[in-house]
Amino acid sequence: MRPRALVTGGSAGIGLEIARLLGADSHDLILTGLSPRVHAAAEELRGLGGDVVAVQSDLSQPEGVQQVIEAVRAAGRLDVMVLNAGIAIGGAFLDIALERHLNLIDLNIGSTVRLCHALVPDLIETRGRILMVSSISAFGPTPYESVYGPSKAFMSSFGHGLREELRGTGVSVTLLHPGATATEFHHRAGMDATRFGDNSWKNDPMLVARQGVEAMRSGLSSVIGGDEATQKIGEERRYQPEEEKARHHAEQARPSHTK
Ligand SMILES: NC(=O)c1ccc[n+]([C@@H]2O[C@H](COP(=O)([O-])OP(=O)(O)OC[C@H]3O[C@@H](n4cnc5c(N)ncnc54)[C@H](OP(=O)(O)O)[C@@H]3O)[C@@H](O)[C@H]2O)c1
Repeated sequence: MRPRALVTGGSAGIGLEIARLLGADSHDLILTGLSPRVHAAAEELRGLGGDVVAVQSDLSQPEGVQQVIEAVRAAGRLDVMVLNAGIAIGGAFLDIALERHLNLIDLNIGSTVRLCHALVPDLIETRGRILMVSSISAFGPTPYESVYGPSKAFMSSFGHGLREELRGTGVSVTLLHPGATATEFHHRAGMDATRFGDNSWKNDPMLVARQGVEAMRSGLSSVIGGDEATQKIGEERRYQPEEEKARHHAEQARPSHTK
């Protein structure tokens, strides 16, 4: 029987590359996305020969999460769960409406907890694997993306804790911590007027996806996603003082019109 993988945010960016890798590795797929383009992505992936289900839903809403859970139930089994859908919001904390901060928390944190609570039992049955797409932003404060870094710190801490609880069940949890990656992510976060507005210096999403999938397959607890320079930054962040990390991130993420 072919294994089945759920990839949230599988319609674009890092998630689409992860889905391409899993599809090429004989997985059937459940692909989720916010916009209708998840259907086009699913159509492309059907070309790899497997069964591909597309779910268009808003994972910041409990009903949107429920749609994904129902798609998994309808498919009948789950072997791999990739929790990748996520957003950042660029700009000064007070300039952003509270509702937008809370929506980020509902998506980045809420959907992670909801999907794990509903679907980990399915993964225990298949002795499956979980890949959580966090960020190197999880390793420190992220001024001018003030709620984003903490949401990823939650994911990393939650994932490591869940991994320990699942020891002995055959289920592994792997955290992928990408550095800046060339997707639509920062544009969608409204960060064009920052250093992150330029995609030319960022990591290739396929490289990041491959590192995540390989780490998951090997059952590693975590991996940094990106080139050599990114690996070095990721390691350094673990030991730098919080104040220093905050100042460095502010330099990169502060919109140029406020400098
Ligand atoms: N790019 C980076 O520099 C970077 C660095 C570190 C970590 N990450 C993390 O990597 C993950 C993927 O990011 P990416 O760079 O691939 O971003 P991306 O290209 O913007 O793709 C985001 C994906 O999430 C989906 N999505 C967005 N909002 C959603 C919602 N409310 N409900 C359901 N799905 C939603 C999008 O669907 P639609 O396309 O249909 O809207 C898309 O499939 C995120 O968790 C991000 O935090 C990214």
